[in-house]
Parts: sequence; structure tokens; C-alpha cells
Amino acid sequence: MDTEKIPWWMLPLFLLCFSLESQVSIAADTISFNQSLSGNGTIVSKGGVFELGFFKPGNSSNYYIGIWYKKASQPNTVWVANREKPVRDINSSVLKIVDGNLVLFNESQIPIWSTNVGSTNSSSVVAVLLDDGNLVLRDGPNSSTILWQSFDHPVDTWLPGMKLSFDKRTNQSRGFISWRNQDDPAPGLFSIEVDPSQTDQIIFVWNRSRQYWSTGTWDEQTKSFTLLPELRAISTLNMSYRYVSNENESYFTYLFDNSFALSRSGMDASGQFKAMLMLANSDKWSLFFSQPRQQCEVYGYCGVFSSCNEKSTQFCNCLTGFQPASQKEWDQQLYSGGCVRQTKLQCENASVGNGRGDQFLKIHTTTLPTNPQNVVAHSNKECKSTCLQNCSCSAYAYNDNECSIWIGDLLNMKQLGEDDDVGETLHIRLAYSEFSSPTNKKKLIIVAVAVSSGLFLLGLSMFITKRWRRTMIATNPTEGSLVPFGYKDLQKATNNFSEKLGKGGFGSVFKGTLPDGSLIAVKKLEGISQGEKQFRAEVSIVGVINHVNLIRLRGFCSEGSKKLLVYDYLPNGSLDKHLFLANDSELLDWKSRYQIALGAARGLTYLHDKCRDNIIHCDIKPENILLDADFCPKVADFGLAKLIGRDFSRVLTTLRGTMGYLAPEWISGQAITPKADVYSYGMMLLEIVSGRRNFQVQVQHSEDEGTTFFPATVAIHVSIEGGDVLNLLDSRLNGNVNVEELSRICTVACWCIQDDEFQRPTMSQVVQILEGVLEVSQPPIPRLLQACIKEHLG
Ligand SMILES: *[C@@H]1O[C@H](CO)[C@@H](O)[C@H](O)[C@H]1NC(C)=O
Ligand SMILES: *[C@@H]1O[C@H](CO)[C@@H](O)[C@H](O)[C@H]1NC(C)=O
Ligand SMILES: *[C@@H]1O[C@H](CO)[C@@H](O)[C@H](O)[C@H]1NC(C)=O
Ligand SMILES: *[C@@H]1O[C@H](CO)[C@@H](O)[C@H](O)[C@H]1NC(C)=O
Ligand SMILES: *[C@@H]1O[C@H](CO)[C@@H](O)[C@H](O)[C@H]1NC(C)=O
Ligand SMILES: *[C@@H]1O[C@H](CO)[C@@H](O)[C@H](O)[C@H]1NC(C)=O
Ligand SMILES: *[C@@H]1O[C@H](CO)[C@@H](O)[C@H](O)[C@H]1NC(C)=O
Ligand SMILES: *[C@@H]1O[C@H](CO)[C@@H](O)[C@H](O)[C@H]1NC(C)=O
Ligand SMILES: *[C@@H]1O[C@H](CO)[C@@H](O)[C@H](O)[C@H]1NC(C)=O
Ligand SMILES: *[C@@H]1O[C@H](CO)[C@@H](O)[C@H](O)[C@H]1NC(C)=O
Ligand SMILES: *[C@@H]1O[C@H](CO)[C@@H](O)[C@H](O)[C@H]1NC(C)=O
Ligand SMILES: *[C@@H]1O[C@H](CO)[C@@H](O)[C@H](O)[C@H]1NC(C)=O
Repeated sequence: MDTEKIPWWMLPLFLLCFSLESQVSIAADTISFNQSLSGNGTIVSKGGVFELGFFKPGNSSNYYIGIWYKKASQPNTVWVANREKPVRDINSSVLKIVDGNLVLFNESQIPIWSTNVGSTNSSSVVAVLLDDGNLVLRDGPNSSTILWQSFDHPVDTWLPGMKLSFDKRTNQSRGFISWRNQDDPAPGLFSIEVDPSQTDQIIFVWNRSRQYWSTGTWDEQTKSFTLLPELRAISTLNMSYRYVSNENESYFTYLFDNSFALSRSGMDASGQFKAMLMLANSDKWSLFFSQPRQQCEVYGYCGVFSSCNEKSTQFCNCLTGFQPASQKEWDQQLYSGGCVRQTKLQCENASVGNGRGDQFLKIHTTTLPTNPQNVVAHSNKECKSTCLQNCSCSAYAYNDNECSIWIGDLLNMKQLGEDDDVGETLHIRLAYSEFSSPTNKKKLIIVAVAVSSGLFLLGLSMFITKRWRRTMIATNPTEGSLVPFGYKDLQKATNNFSEKLGKGGFGSVFKGTLPDGSLIAVKKLEGISQGEKQFRAEVSIVGVINHVNLIRLRGFCSEGSKKLLVYDYLPNGSLDKHLFLANDSELLDWKSRYQIALGAARGLTYLHDKCRDNIIHCDIKPENILLDADFCPKVADFGLAKLIGRDFSRVLTTLRGTMGYLAPEWISGQAITPKADVYSYGMMLLEIVSGRRNFQVQVQHSEDEGTTFFPATVAIHVSIEGGDVLNLLDSRLNGNVNVEELSRICTVACWCIQDDEFQRPTMSQVVQILEGVLEVSQPPIPRLLQACIKEHLG
């Protein structure tokens, strides 16, 4: 809430005003029939958790009746009564019980909001604010009959215990609808609902009609959603989702049984679902989960005739020839109103001739607008004229011999890459005059030239580009000693990709032999959305990296969509095999483990600090630490996150299996720094120590074993005086360990997995600590782990 500070000298005066205004000071948690709420008066739930009263959102000058967490300082409204009917003057507006209902009267004493349950005996009805945030109307102070409750009338926030439901008898969904914007709680465009087609999933919906995201179906066994396995991790916070489906209704709800934190989640005005925690010793919310991860995945976020770009500082930009429908809203970062034409189309007059008809502007876009109409056309020209003949046609696309036209508004276009040669080509219809203005002249000329000079020129230019590209490979010095391979050569070297070494986030790896007899590992990249130029630029950056603890890229292949990377082959495979699957003969002893930890840290230090483009690895885990014949570790798969084109949602999808290594800021969608690697490295250190996965679905074990979370155990032993680190060691090592090294590695790991990235050391500090050059103090227990630790000790 916006609580303004009152100067100390005003305090007595302020209190005086308060006591004079008898209707303002209301006792405790209840409004009964002889009381009313007005002005600054509030009621507070019994345990002091929630407060109800008038509030004013952000920069608005309107007031609403709302409920908020009393403790939190930021705007944190969880419920609003009069969403669409604000009041201006809170002194003369009043909330009171009338005829058995809780009713809000505006300045003119006209009822503008009511609980609307039939009239009962008004003298006994009371409204009580409970500690779970539910406002209930009862027919007596001690009655258990609930006449009405705010939990049945949700706004945008999902509190623990609230139901997200679908009533099978009425086919009505009761979900959460976003605010229109930060300053206006009126219903916005985005909502969360239970899928009405009864597929046991939650969907996000635009304008009550179009689904743009889903959780995947509910899996009763794991108590999570198929597309959100990461939700499983939150069970360590005592947060659990439940799904109930019976003959009358189906609903989702969640329980949050945690004495260390408060929780709220809901549909944000931006169309993203956000879940937040506030720890007991804080008054700030921390975001721990948001979906969809990318703003541009929210349907219609930019409105019509506008394109969404994840990388531009303002997400939405009007198409050329269009301007914001409301500059004011646009300035408030409210884009759903979209854009309008700067110049009206000439359409009806086009047949009059004189060459002043509408023209088309060719643009590149990652995704075409939604709702195209497919028409039969045998050429670009035919497709174009089909569009021209219809005055409501605003664009056409002719790709792969298929013609699509768009009637009316263009919605949901995305611009993901900066590369011109990715994505689709769209022709947008604009008035002739748009082309004759000076800024557009250049484009017009290019279009004209391309059309008039026909196929011959096109063919010639393609030939030239190809030649030029080939020359570039051979002479470009930045590509160093990288060898450009032909796809056929690699097919031959790998015996047609027959021996698979593994599958990583970015594609599968195959073993191969070059004609000179040297062994290679060939990675077939999947899902590269980059253009040729960009791909080569990135590969050349990775290609010049040379460090004993980093795997060496020998070459690459790029033929159309076929993109492959060629590495040295390492005979001892990846670290995970030696840690988790080892039979006793392959078990790594302590000395090797320590050297592997140190080597991996050195490799990462090089990536972060020493190479030309500071590279964040983004996927540190035992699978990506390879071991050569002498068990010298080499970090693999670096630079690939960049190759994927910084499309982090795609990266995250591929990382879903390795949730346990992701830093909290990564999960919550904030900017990623090298400290995200430090976090993952810390998690990996713990696995090197224990010889087992931190996150393990422990189905086969007993119940109490299932609840132990290794990082929490380490945090206890390291952070609490007298903890015994020997308990943490892989039992298969039978205590054969250097205790000082063990203690050092556990301590540094615990520092690495701090929630706050500024508390984590840098990789070069980690190296110094492991080398014994730098001393390290006792780490605090990471906050997110505190919750499960308490459980652990208690
Ligand atoms: C409201 O009325 C009840 C009896 O009807 C009385 O006990 C109570 O003190 C009254 N409260 C106020 C604030 O006047
Ligand atoms: C409410 O509090 C604000 C300051 O917090 C003060 O300016 C205003 O006059 C108060 N209104 C009432 C009705 O007490
Ligand atoms: C209120 O308006 C000011 C200035 O226009 C702006 O800087 C601030 O971010 C706004 N606050 C909110 C909550 O919208
Ligand atoms: C409400 O009343 C308080 C004192 O009774 C006064 O200070 C405040 O200015 C009033 N607010 C409005 C909006 O009239
Ligand atoms: C009170 O509400 C009524 C009905 O919505 C409206 O006509 C009237 O203008 C409102 N009064 C004020 C002061 O806004
Ligand atoms: C309401 O209750 C009072 C006493 O509790 C009673 O005298 C009165 O008749 C009741 N009114 C209605 C409409 O039931
Ligand atoms: C409600 O219950 C409390 C204690 O449980 C009792 O003191 C009070 O008199 C009761 N009130 C009514 C109206 O029955
Ligand atoms: C609800 O929808 C189902 C399937 O669409 C239909 O069979 C049923 O009649 C509907 N019920 C009501 C009350 O509208
Ligand atoms: C949302 O849908 C309604 C009809 O259901 C339509 O009138 C309105 O224009 C739509 N809003 C937007 C922003 O498209
Ligand atoms: C469904 O509704 C009917 C009628 O309201 C009720 O009798 C029945 O118990 C309900 N079933 C469940 C599972 O709640
Ligand atoms: C988690 O739930 C269990 C069982 O209800 C409870 O004993 C424990 O205190 C809870 N943990 C926290 C951190 O609240
Ligand atoms: C068509 O041309 C006439 C005369 O130039 C003009 O008045 C009219 O507005 C034009 N119509 C449109 C749709 O531009």
C-alpha cells in the first residue's frame, strides 16, 4: 500500500482527529450493522495478516475497497470489491451493512457495490475478515453459516485456499482476471481458467476467448503439471497444488503451510502469471515463478498492427505506417490498444487508376499474424492482387507457394531475432503516400528494382552471396583454426550418425573418426533459429577459445538448416556417469573429485573473465563436464546458449530436466549474469561430494528419505557450529577423504548457492578458495532453503 509517512510532530494532532471521527475507528476484524467504514478506517484480521479498507492504486486518483497483506509495504492488493466503480472521496463514501448485505455507497450515497445475497435479518449480519484473506458475511457473529464470501468472487490474485474452478452444472469458469493496468483494477484482457474442455489443466486466456498458454495436464501421481515439472521443487516450501474433480465441479487449489513466508500469485496486467513469496524477516515480495517466461508469448500483448520484440526496451512497436492508438497509454507501457494507420487506404479509388493505389511494404517477422485466410494463388502477383481486390485486406504473404491474406486487424506478430534472413515475409498494405515520403524512398526503390529485374538478377545475387560466403570461411582470420566440414564428410566420419554418445540440451552427440584417425564428437544442433551470418559469428567466438579445462571446438558444418559442431572426443565421458552410475571400480576417489572441481572452476573462470566475449555457460551440470584419459575435466557446451539466439524460453525448455541447477533469478525470469553459473556450479559441487543427485525423485525409498533435500542438509552442517561435514560425504568413499578439503568444498558450495547473487563469490574467487589461497567464512543459510531446514530440525 501507499502508506505516506506522517511527521512525528503531527502525530498527536492526527490521533486527535482520529478519535473525534467516531465512524473511522472500527474494532478489529468485523463490520456489524451499527458500524460503518469510511475514510482511513480499516479492519484487520484477527492474526494481523490482512487489512481491508479504501485504497488508491499507484498514480490513480480513484479509491476502491480492497484487501491487502498488512505487513507488506509494496502495492499488494489481493482483492477489490468495486473493481469497475471507483469513488473519489473516501470521507463521504461508506461501506456498511444494510438489509443483510455489505454495501458500498458512493459520495452521493448511492449504492455502487453490494454482496447481493437476499435480505435477511439485518441486525445480526456481520462481515468478518479472516486470516486467510477471505471476507465472509455471516448471519450472526457466532454463526457458522456463510452467506457470501470474497473467495467466491476472485479478482486477479490466487491466495492459498482459494479455488480456481469450473462449474460443470452451469458451464461457468471462475478464474482470475488481470487488472486493466497497474492503476486500474477494472477487468483486463488476461485471465486464468480451468480448461472448460475438461482436460485437467489450467489455461491462460486472452479476452475471455483465446487460449495462449497452458500448464499441461495434471498428473495426480507427482501432484504437478506435465509442462511445469519445476513446480515439484516448491514442495520443499510446503506448497502443494491439489486438483479435485467431481460430478458438480472441478477445481485447483493450493495449500501453503509455511510459517516462514507468505505467498500470493496471480494474473498480472502484463498477461503473465506471477507467484511471489515474502519471507518472515522481510516486507518485500520476491518473485519465484512466472509464466509465460517471455513477454512476447502473451497473446495480443501489443495490440493490433504492432509487433512484439523481446529485445527492444519497449516491448511493442507499431508497424511502419502506423502510430499508437493512444500515445498516453503507450507511454504508460500499456500496449493492448495497439496502433492505427497514419494514412487512410485509397482502396475504393484505386480503380480510378493514375497509379496512386495502395502499395505493399515488405517486412520480415518471426511469426506471422494470427487468423490468416488461405486462398488459392499460383504466384506472388496473383496473391497480391487477391488482397488488393478486397478493401479490408491488410496484408498478404506468399511463402512456399502458399498464399495467405489477412482481413482486418493484424494481431500477435513477433520479432524474436535481429537477423534479417530468419522468419517469414509479410507484405503490409499501406497508402501510396506512405511510400513517397522521404523516409520510405529507399525501401521503395529496393522493391522496384527487385520486381523489375526479375529472376535473373535474383539468381545472380544468390550465386554471388554463396561465393562470398565460401571465400569468407577460407580467409576470415577470426575463425582461427576452425575447420569447415561438409555435411557428407561428417556423415561418413560418424558412419551415418550411428554411435550416439549422448543427448544434451541442444542436440545429440555422435562419435566419429576423421580420415587421419583422430576421434571426434559431433554435435547435431537442434532448434537453431539463427541466420547464417549470426551462426558463423558465434561459432568463430567459441572457436578461438583455448583453455586446458574447456573442450576444444575443432570445426563446424553449416549447410542450410543442418548445423553441426565438431569437438575432440574424450574417452572417459561425462562426470555424471562416474558420480551417479558408477560401479565400484569406476568410482572416483576424493583426490580426483577435488581436482575435477578445481579444474571445472578454472574453465568457468576463463569463460567469465578471460575470453573476448564474456561467456555465461547457462547449463553447468555433471553431464557437461567431460573427462579426458587422465580424468582432467573439460567444460563442454559453452557458448551454445548464445547460439540459440538468446531465446531463453527455449533454453529453459531444454533445461527442464535439470531444474535443480538453476539459480532463483533464472527461474523468476530476471536478467542472467555469470553468477547464475556460480549457483549451478555450487549445486554440482554438492553432487561431487555426495555422489548423488540433489533433486531426485525418490519413489523407491521410504517416505522420510523422500523429504530430505541434500543442499539443505549441507547448509545445516556447514552453517551451524559443530556440524559434522563427514556425514555429507559419499558413503562409498568409506571416509577416505581430506577433511579440510571436504570442509572447504562444502563451505564454498554453500556460498555459491546463496539466493542473492551478490552474496555468491565469483568463479575466480572459488578457484582461490579451492586452491587454499583465500580463506572463507561461515556462510549464511540460503533463504529459500531456510524453510525446509526448519522442517528438517523440527
Ligand atoms: C453495536 O451494537 C451492539 C448491540 O446491538 C453493541 O453491543 C455495540 O457496542 C455497538 N457497537 C458500536 C460501535 O456502537
Ligand atoms: C488519511 O490519512 C492521510 C495521511 O495518511 C491524511 O492525509 C488524510 O487526511 C486522512 N484522512 C482521514 C479521513 O483521516
Ligand atoms: C507514477 O507516475 C510517475 C510519473 O509519471 C512515474 O514515475 C511512476 O512510476 C508512476 N508510478 C506508478 C506506480 O505507476
Ligand atoms: C477527509 O477528512 C479529513 C479529516 O476529517 C481531512 O483531513 C481530509 O482532507 C478529508 N479528505 C478529503 C478527500 O476530503
Ligand atoms: C454515485 O453513483 C451513481 C450511480 O452510479 C452516479 O450516478 C453518481 O454520479 C455517483 N456520484 C458521484 C459523486 O460520483
Ligand atoms: C430481526 O430480529 C429482531 C430481533 O432479533 C426481530 O425483532 C425482528 O422481527 C427481526 N426482523 C425480521 C425482518 O426478521
Ligand atoms: C459469541 O460467542 C462468545 C464466546 O464464544 C460469547 O461471549 C458471545 O456472547 C457470543 N455472542 C453471541 C451474540 O451469541
Ligand atoms: C455445458 O457444455 C456441454 C458441452 O459443451 C453441454 O453438453 C451442456 O449442455 C452444457 N450445459 C449447460 C448448462 O450449458
Ligand atoms: C474482446 O472481445 C469483444 C467481444 O467479445 C470485442 O468486442 C472486443 O473488441 C475484444 N477486445 C479486443 C481488445 O480485441
Ligand atoms: C453435487 O451437488 C448436489 C446438489 O447440490 C449435492 O447433493 C452433491 O452432494 C454434490 N456432490 C458433490 C461431490 O459435492
Ligand atoms: C511443513 O509442513 C509440516 C506438516 O504440516 C509442518 O510440520 C512444518 O512445520 C511445515 N514447514 C514449515 C517450514 O512451515
Ligand atoms: C476518393 O477520391 C475522392 C476524390 O479524390 C475523395 O474525395 C475520396 O475521399 C476518396 N476516397 C477514399 C476512400 O480515399
